[in-house]
Amino acid sequence: MRSFSDADGDGVGDLLGITARLPYLADLGIDAVWLTPFYLSPQVDHGYDVADYRQVDPLFGTLEDFDAMSAAAHDLGIKVIIDIVPNHSSSAHEWFDAALTAGRGSPERARYVFRDGRGEGGDEPPNNWRSVFGGAAWTRVEDGQWYLHLFEESQPDFDWDNLEVGDEFESILRFWLDRGVDGFRIDVAHGMFKAEGLPDVGGLDAGGGTLDVVMADWNRPYWDQPRLHEVYRRWHEVLAEYDGDKMAIGEAWVGSAAAMARYVRADELQQVFNFHWLDAPWSAQAFADVIGETFAAVGPVGASPTWVLSNHDVTRPVTRYGGGELGLGRSRAAMLAMLALPGSAYIYAGEELGLPQVDVPADARQDPTWLRGGGVGRDGCRVPMPWSGHLPPFGFGPDGTHPWLPQPEGFASLTVEAQSADPASTLAFFRAALTRRRELLSTLSQDLEMLDRGPGVLAFRRRGVADGAGLACVLNCGETDHRVSDLGAPLMLSGPPIDAAGKLRPSAAAWFGA
Ligand code: NOJ
Repeated sequence: MRSFSDADGDGVGDLLGITARLPYLADLGIDAVWLTPFYLSPQVDHGYDVADYRQVDPLFGTLEDFDAMSAAAHDLGIKVIIDIVPNHSSSAHEWFDAALTAGRGSPERARYVFRDGRGEGGDEPPNNWRSVFGGAAWTRVEDGQWYLHLFEESQPDFDWDNLEVGDEFESILRFWLDRGVDGFRIDVAHGMFKAEGLPDVGGLDAGGGTLDVVMADWNRPYWDQPRLHEVYRRWHEVLAEYDGDKMAIGEAWVGSAAAMARYVRADELQQVFNFHWLDAPWSAQAFADVIGETFAAVGPVGASPTWVLSNHDVTRPVTRYGGGELGLGRSRAAMLAMLALPGSAYIYAGEELGLPQVDVPADARQDPTWLRGGGVGRDGCRVPMPWSGHLPPFGFGPDGTHPWLPQPEGFASLTVEAQSADPASTLAFFRAALTRRRELLSTLSQDLEMLDRGPGVLAFRRRGVADGAGLACVLNCGETDHRVSDLGAPLMLSGPPIDAAGKLRPSAAAWFGA
């Protein structure tokens, strides 16, 4: 939201900016957009601290701007998925204000997790939980009680054992469904409920690490609690009341594919992010294991898999895979393999340009993770998109705009404009791969057959349905060229052409008819 396109030149992306760029997205060949939160918010965690779930923050525009963006997207055949943040609100939410004013034992306070402290005078936090962003997960209020915030101190956790919280969120879902959204991305979908008695986290430093590591540590008594599933069953019914193909996808960083599958049982969420592809190291075996475990998990519950290589919380894949030409080559190859798999692929803005992680100067960093001493933070993957021109703001906003995070000079060669003119660019690759994928979609079986082409090589095939052609994908994670001449001419390549001897280079992937 903040980093895509800024129509009013205040340095922060907005709804009018998105509307103006919808033709670009349609041309890219996507089916839906997911917008990070645009609700009224102090922006401490860049929108994930919501003060009013039914209002658009003036920073991003108005409710009318949202409706116009949504209508324009629908006209172009693009569905609109919005972010819902049910684990916590902002401390600027009127409920939290009321909780502070009404005091101990009040129904207002019971909407959040307030507890007395431990030790003499209750001076110690109620337990040893640490914030995902670093530091304590508890803050003390004037009357001596403590409140829980698994994230920033201005993001108090709701108490989901209080039925009023669930009712309020159902009403929020309906508010946006009534406005025509197609679905929701559920923030911290494995959070919300906490283990009874709020037990200490045992046997670890109880904090630290990058967001994906902390969020995926399934030993913590605040993740993946069984009662979550009752909520998702209720939300399933809410979505089913509306016409059209409504859906919800959970951001559930759970430790195994089997745990992930519990969120997508037939009467729960439609999809869950499969972060195991993103977490996999550069290894054919690791990718094969993720594929095998994913299908073994989602198959029995009848759900379709999702694939993710990147998002606004993790280091961009180009950098994760080694940076420079190597990192770019590998990220394109991993993407091509991912796009060949049955299921839904999620692409993070800028991934189609091959943007690297930016080393944002310390004095410009804004992520609460950095500000709370929890590490370098996520600003490096959130630097505003380069659209055109040779100098900042690279078309992100009108000339003279100062983007909320500084763009590096190196973005000049990565703009949409520059890449559109180059048939060998990453953008041209993405456009071609998405177009091909769309063409093939209806002709391919949802089943997958793994092929053994030796160590270091991931290979699989999808059969064609109704006599249509199938698709084989080969990803070379090894150190040496891999002969693919037996598979015929490639339909798509992630990188340099296959040489005359029919060999696929290391760190490259290809599709073939099969
Ligand atoms: C996950 C979101 O993706 C992240 O950006 C946010 O900081 C946390 N949830 C807290 O809402």
